[in-house]
Amino acid sequence: MDFDSAKKRVEELTGILNKHNYNYYVLAEPTISDYEYDKLMEELIDIESKFPELVDNNSPTQRVGGQVTKEFPTVKHTYPMLSLSNTYSKKELQDFDARVRKSLGNNFEYVCELKFDGVAIGLVYKNGQLIRAVTRGDGYSGDDVTNNVKTIKSIPLKLFHETDQLAFEARGEIFMPHKSFIKLNEIKLKKGDPPFANPRNAAAGSLKLQESKIAASRNLDCFIYNIIGEELPFDNHYENLLEAKKWGLKISVFTKKCESLDKVLEYIHYWESERKKLDFDIDGVVVKINSLKQQEVLGYTAKSPRWAIAYKFPTEQAITKLLDVKYQVGRTGAITPVAVLQPVQLLGTTVKRASLYNADRIEELDLHFNDTVVVEKGGEIIPKIVDVDVYQRDKNSQKVHFVSKCPECGSKLLREQGEALHYCPNQNNCPPQILGKIEHFISRKAMNIESLGQGRTEILIKNGLVKNIADLYDLKYEQLLGLEKTIVNELSGTSKKISFREKTVNNILNALEKSKSVPFERVLYALGIRYVGETVAKKIVSYFDDIDKIIKCSFDDLLKVPEVGEKIAASIVSFFEDEKNINIINRLKDHGLQFKSEKAETSAGGPLSEQTFVISGVFEKYSRDELKNIIEKYGGKITSSVSAKTDYLVAGNNMGPEKRKKAEELNVRIINEDEFNKMLDKD
Ligand code: IVH
Repeated sequence: MDFDSAKKRVEELTGILNKHNYNYYVLAEPTISDYEYDKLMEELIDIESKFPELVDNNSPTQRVGGQVTKEFPTVKHTYPMLSLSNTYSKKELQDFDARVRKSLGNNFEYVCELKFDGVAIGLVYKNGQLIRAVTRGDGYSGDDVTNNVKTIKSIPLKLFHETDQLAFEARGEIFMPHKSFIKLNEIKLKKGDPPFANPRNAAAGSLKLQESKIAASRNLDCFIYNIIGEELPFDNHYENLLEAKKWGLKISVFTKKCESLDKVLEYIHYWESERKKLDFDIDGVVVKINSLKQQEVLGYTAKSPRWAIAYKFPTEQAITKLLDVKYQVGRTGAITPVAVLQPVQLLGTTVKRASLYNADRIEELDLHFNDTVVVEKGGEIIPKIVDVDVYQRDKNSQKVHFVSKCPECGSKLLREQGEALHYCPNQNNCPPQILGKIEHFISRKAMNIESLGQGRTEILIKNGLVKNIADLYDLKYEQLLGLEKTIVNELSGTSKKISFREKTVNNILNALEKSKSVPFERVLYALGIRYVGETVAKKIVSYFDDIDKIIKCSFDDLLKVPEVGEKIAASIVSFFEDEKNINIINRLKDHGLQFKSEKAETSAGGPLSEQTFVISGVFEKYSRDELKNIIEKYGGKITSSVSAKTDYLVAGNNMGPEKRKKAEELNVRIINEDEFNKMLDKD
């Protein structure tokens, strides 16, 4: 091949490769296979190696990188790179709209764009060639990162335009797509290198790499969002962007003209939720005035244009420091660790605390004091710590170890096997447990004395008027009237003043009086025995109709109650073994609370007593619930799965084949509805 034909072929191949590059990276519509592309590229590399004088700085072969930049030179921007003023609310957008209308009247258009979360770049084109790429820097001069930027495939090195005279600057955002970010961090972790905290940092880090070959491997991308120049083809922003796309620049397909503020708000609303589906990060929406003339009329402040505004999405996560870990003691003595944070803004509120759930969670996070942590607000009121940036950790920082003693009363904490939570065993004297127990006792589903409420209960305890639930019934009008206190909520940091006025005192005393007729099952639940919830309390009361029977019964007796397993039985036995609890019950009895079931119909000793049933399938006479009630009423016990302890499997239509198989294996009697009915007639 002679020099002239080589030169001709190099020009041809450059044109073809640039076009395919554009189809693939800018339009995402490739028209040839990767194989064909590679073949053409190999041909160009081959000719260039034979005729090095034909190698152009902006040849497609230069995309792979190879240059080393020791120090990035600082260069002055031809046009300063300003920033945008940010808003976080609809109200501020309305104010912006009003300001614009005041200057321009009502005849203008908005252009809405995504606010890409990456690194701002200024691409200087002259004679249709990329001559320089500069970062924002301080807005007046930035770093020349041309070598690395040239490796970004969606940035054209040569434009498809007779642009001999046209000189302009394309402003845009370089970013790392999620897919590339994940891949990069995986590689970093495998090598034991610290990963990048987010795609923005990864993009910024990649642009500052000394070896452009490595930058080329980072798969960066770029959207152009502004064209600046003296002689632009159109008098409006939107058409200039579309024209720039024809020249080869990558413009977001989501850029949209909007004729009113309502349409702008619609766009924002849409992207607020849809952004999660994008393969790149955006942190808001940019709203611009379309006409360049009108942009000029609105002008600039010292820092930002008056013709544009950025609406930033509320951040659901924030990064802050862990200052301390506090431990809260609940009603049952369960200990919950809470992180004390350096205050940080999150979704419009200041976050100072976050939940840490339990000792395992602290271990999982490998939490250290002074750690940099990521807090997130989910559905819960209290935010949680979702991550720790271990790479920001001080060498000397101390690991967080779960406390071994109760922070309120000093008792040694217990943690039962298989349980996530630590407990303070000092149930009757640990102050938050006293408060928690009383709060539970007065709650709506228990004794329903809610006129007392949490704040007032705290005041009663602080004034030494109550130490346990029985003390509530000794309260006198004169003791209550006039009590008051400002209560501070530790978690939210809010405070409120609470006082006992005449009406409140009467309400409380009336509610206490009324609670004396609350049925036994709710009283049993109100006692706050660990693991005895509403349902279990009901089951126990329908089995033993009297508190004295429950107090006397053994662990094994309790196991006969439907839904009472070993954990619940053990907890009930230990509760009634405690003399203090018996004392409280006796005092409550004296006050007239209900400790006997109304329907003293006893089921123990009925025709099905001591028998355990499993029911399966559909029955003709009964619904499954009716059948369950009958079995319980006649003294039987129900379990959900067949085991060696099962006496009968009551088989209905369409019963599960697994249950039948298991019953046959274990020699459990399988009876039908008729046979079951006969058992009820036994006596
Ligand atoms: S226009 C003079 N449009 O947001 C205003 N900026 O403070 C020029 N950004 O770091 C900016 N997406 O790089 C504009 N569609 C968009 C943008 C955008 C992201 C970045 C920009 C700068 C910051 C503005």
